[in-house]
Amino acid sequence: MRVAILGAGYVGLVTGACFAEFGFQITCVDTDERKIAALAKGEVPIFEPGLKALVQLGLQYERLHFTTDAGEAIRAADVIFIAVGTPSRRGNGEADVSFVIAAAEMIAAHAVGYKVVVTKSTVPVGTTRRVERVLRRLRPDCKFDVAANPEFLREGSAIEDFMRPNRVVIGVEGERARQMLQQLYRPLHLIETPIIFADLETAELIKYASNAFLAMKITFINQMADLCEKVGGDVHVLAKAMGLDHRIGPKFLHPGPGYGGSCFPKDTMALATFARECGAPVDLVETVIRVNEARKRSMVDRILDALGTPSSGKKLAVLGLTFKPNTDDMRESPALTILPRLLERGIKLQCFDPAGMAEAAKLIPGIDCCRDPYEAAAKADGLVLLTEWNLFRALDLDRIKATLHAPLIIDFRNIYDPDKMRGMGFSYHSLGRP
Ligand code: UDX
Repeated sequence: MRVAILGAGYVGLVTGACFAEFGFQITCVDTDERKIAALAKGEVPIFEPGLKALVQLGLQYERLHFTTDAGEAIRAADVIFIAVGTPSRRGNGEADVSFVIAAAEMIAAHAVGYKVVVTKSTVPVGTTRRVERVLRRLRPDCKFDVAANPEFLREGSAIEDFMRPNRVVIGVEGERARQMLQQLYRPLHLIETPIIFADLETAELIKYASNAFLAMKITFINQMADLCEKVGGDVHVLAKAMGLDHRIGPKFLHPGPGYGGSCFPKDTMALATFARECGAPVDLVETVIRVNEARKRSMVDRILDALGTPSSGKKLAVLGLTFKPNTDDMRESPALTILPRLLERGIKLQCFDPAGMAEAAKLIPGIDCCRDPYEAAAKADGLVLLTEWNLFRALDLDRIKATLHAPLIIDFRNIYDPDKMRGMGFSYHSLGRP
């Protein structure tokens, strides 16, 4: 079976590299010539553990190909995945599917024979049906089946998530297409991965509902952390006990400065918008969005309180800028809300992030970029930890203390032990703990 993947971004590239690893012939297509030329040499433009090795292996064994020639890739393919971007439209949060529709038009322009066309990007409910209409209208002479196959990859563990998923969701109607897609995921049968077949609309909705539910879980524990602070409780003991209830589960109950990333903010907004338009508003999700935005802003007040007045002229070390560890992705990172507001207050920010430094410097002009955590801490009036990179768990805290001007640590990921920190003489602030 030959597969073409339109869009060599994060989703397309991971999907392509992993299907190539399953043994299929994969061609990844993108309009960006520089990106394709680099990929063809085994250079991967994004930071994702394991991806580069997989791309290089695919190239070496000639199972993975990169091209800007969409026509040839489409003609040769049995299955075509649409993995182009679906950015949020400014203003109302609606997902912009114009790239998906353009990809469908491109497929229609080049298709010969029978093709299975699969939406892989996260698309609002009804989009795969729209793709089908475009194909049938433009090419009544061709035989198409469409399918919706949402991805559930987490940045930083995308390869593992693809190779060992909790489930695979395939929205498909024709039997022939169903069998072909089942064949593509055959290697996962060996590890008994459940494959959920659904209609197109349900498959599309599963992705939004799952992400919104996870965003809600995080937001819930963040509010419980606030409540713990008021009543003198410990949010970790609370989360552990809650999570042991199998109906709740232990994951995504870790408090933080608010969720970020390329998926949760965008998908919750898109879900809220199209649900309202359909006449079935999900107020719960609308509230989650509002509470999460407020949470990111409230982190600024916590920092200012801990720093004391006047804050202007003070220096802060900031560790971790990406929306989570093991990625260079700054999209919707809490740092983008928090740091500009601190700069406005006249606070100097000495920042360090293992992978996101260059991007952060572009997005937040005015921050100082440091080479390591110790340089960031130099003579600072406090240290704020925004993202829990493993590297920060193993810091030499004695050295940090000696380097700081004042022994203040504000830990928004709760990676240190409060008793130990106080024992070392730090003024230590974390979330939802005594
Ligand atoms: C997410 C979904 O997990 C994935 O299934 C979907 O396909 C894409 O969106 P990702 O955005 O890569 O993946 O990140 P994830 O690890 O889910 O974290 C999202 C955000 O939630 C991060 O900002 C993270 O710091 C935050 N988070 C996560 C918490 O604050 N607490 C938690 O307990 C878990």
